[in-house]
Amino acid sequence: MVLLNLYIVYFVVCILSVNSTCTTNNDEDVRKFPLNFAFGTATSAYQIEGAWNVSGKGENIWDKYVHKNPNVVIDKSNGDVACDSYHQYDRDIEMLKELGVDYYRFSLSWSRLLPTGSVANVNNDGVDYYNNLINGLLKHNIIPFVTIYHWDLPQKLQDLGGWTNPIIQDFFEDYANFVFRQFGDRVQHWLTFNEPKQICLCGYGQTTFAPGLNMTGVGDYMCGHNLLLSHARVFHLYDKKFRIKQAGSIGITIEGTWSEPFSSSKEDFNAAERFMEFEAGWFMNPIFSIKGDYPAVMKERIAVNSAIQGFSKSRLPEFTEEQIRLLKGSSDFLGLNFYCSTMARHINTNVSSEPSYEDDANVYSYVNQSWPHAASSWLTVTPWGFHNYLNRIKNLYDNPEVIITENGYSTWGGLVDNDRIKYINLHLNALLDAIKDGSKVTGYTVWSLMDNFEWQQGYSEKFGMYEVDFQDPSRKRIPRKSAKYFIDVIRTKSVKHYDPEYYEINDCTNSVYV
Ligand SMILES: *[C@@H]1O[C@H](CO)[C@@H](O)[C@H](O)[C@H]1NC(C)=O
Ligand SMILES: *[C@@H]1O[C@H](CO)[C@@H](O)[C@H](O)[C@H]1NC(C)=O
Ligand SMILES: *[C@@H]1O[C@H](CO)[C@@H](O)[C@H](O)[C@H]1NC(C)=O
Ligand SMILES: *[C@@H]1O[C@H](CO)[C@@H](O)[C@H](O)[C@H]1NC(C)=O
Repeated sequence: MVLLNLYIVYFVVCILSVNSTCTTNNDEDVRKFPLNFAFGTATSAYQIEGAWNVSGKGENIWDKYVHKNPNVVIDKSNGDVACDSYHQYDRDIEMLKELGVDYYRFSLSWSRLLPTGSVANVNNDGVDYYNNLINGLLKHNIIPFVTIYHWDLPQKLQDLGGWTNPIIQDFFEDYANFVFRQFGDRVQHWLTFNEPKQICLCGYGQTTFAPGLNMTGVGDYMCGHNLLLSHARVFHLYDKKFRIKQAGSIGITIEGTWSEPFSSSKEDFNAAERFMEFEAGWFMNPIFSIKGDYPAVMKERIAVNSAIQGFSKSRLPEFTEEQIRLLKGSSDFLGLNFYCSTMARHINTNVSSEPSYEDDANVYSYVNQSWPHAASSWLTVTPWGFHNYLNRIKNLYDNPEVIITENGYSTWGGLVDNDRIKYINLHLNALLDAIKDGSKVTGYTVWSLMDNFEWQQGYSEKFGMYEVDFQDPSRKRIPRKSAKYFIDVIRTKSVKHYDPEYYEINDCTNSVYV
């Protein structure tokens, strides 16, 4: 009924603007989403909150890393103030209301709630902040979708080794128990982790993310192991202690990049498969596959390389049978972050004497220069890769429920962001193609609500549907054209069909609301 009303509004407005820029609006151009499909947008604590050293917040690994190594960030910036959402959250809620989203995906800052990482020290100002945010969202019928960990580990826990120390499992379980108790009466949608591969590969294998441990082929696998076990423990904690009372669901978000074989040769095909198994399969296989455990290709290759390099056992830690069982199925849905695709080619190299993830995966992976890309050079526009990736998940993991927890496009700024609209439109169409093929995708989240601290890229690359003025002390936010586009998608629960022959952004859809 409600949807029907929306359609009438949409139709009438379109007719009214036919004389200006509105092109024909045939029924077959409009593709509808299922009734229960939900739309949202996402941010994360360190990227938006600011207020890094006030109101009792403890230091986290990103605070420390960027203060100590300002040169790792392209514009030498940091998240000290960011979008100042710690003070501007009312405006954030207002923007979400303007967009009409069903839900808002944001993350909790562990060190704002528990400054030392331990439940022995609670920061009540931090609890108040998230209570205010959650209550404000609910007041406007916006569902809070909460990421428990989005990269900002309390520094005190890093001093103990962070995700390489198995003791982190106890700390993470305590922290999760704390947030379920504090917020679970109102929050019914949870994610344990955002992008484990990035946490472990970039933070512990390399130096691109905090804590910059630079122990490739060793630190990354230890991190992944403890992270997976932490995830399983928190899933079962929720299942046993909170699920019935709080009636919610809990999952994990993993980023997937489609890998396109360079040729039809068996070697290139295997290289592409290996790339995807080492990247996302590392975390998806233990949780979502029927067999569980790490992907076979990872176990084999890392064991062989470790032996050649003189290690007494594989650098990839082993799960016990019990741990494999606890991990299998430990997610109510798969949160998928999808941005882009890469090419994969087979390479013939000898294993080097030093351990490395690159050696273990042994794939020549590169950006195909003929594909369009966003401001971020890695962000190629490959909606067909999105469709392929969703089909892959459906086939490999017995068709789990999937929520797209991130998808988005970077620019260098400006309010007229036609390329972002085009990217979102293409990916929503690819998503509908995947649903048609049988994928159970139930939600779509744009990264991001607003421009924010984009890690190594600082404030240079802009992902926001709202522009943020980082020179303005109040961090003024202004909607871009894409915000207006997304409002339309949500209100009508539909997108225009994409056809490469005639496609242009239809201005009609962008002038209706706001
Ligand atoms: C907090 O950090 C800012 C830099 O972002 C600094 O100027 C300020 O003095 C610090 N405040 C406290 C209370 O340490
Ligand atoms: C990381 O380690 C490698 C070799 O182990 C070294 O060559 C490189 O300089 C290190 N990088 C940083 C930023 O410390
Ligand atoms: C691999 O090692 C062998 C023997 O050590 C050597 O003959 C060969 O050239 C090496 N191949 C590559 C690609 O480096
Ligand atoms: C780039 O992709 C196109 C197809 O989209 C393909 O024909 C071409 O071989 C690729 N180029 C490289 C260098 O991988």
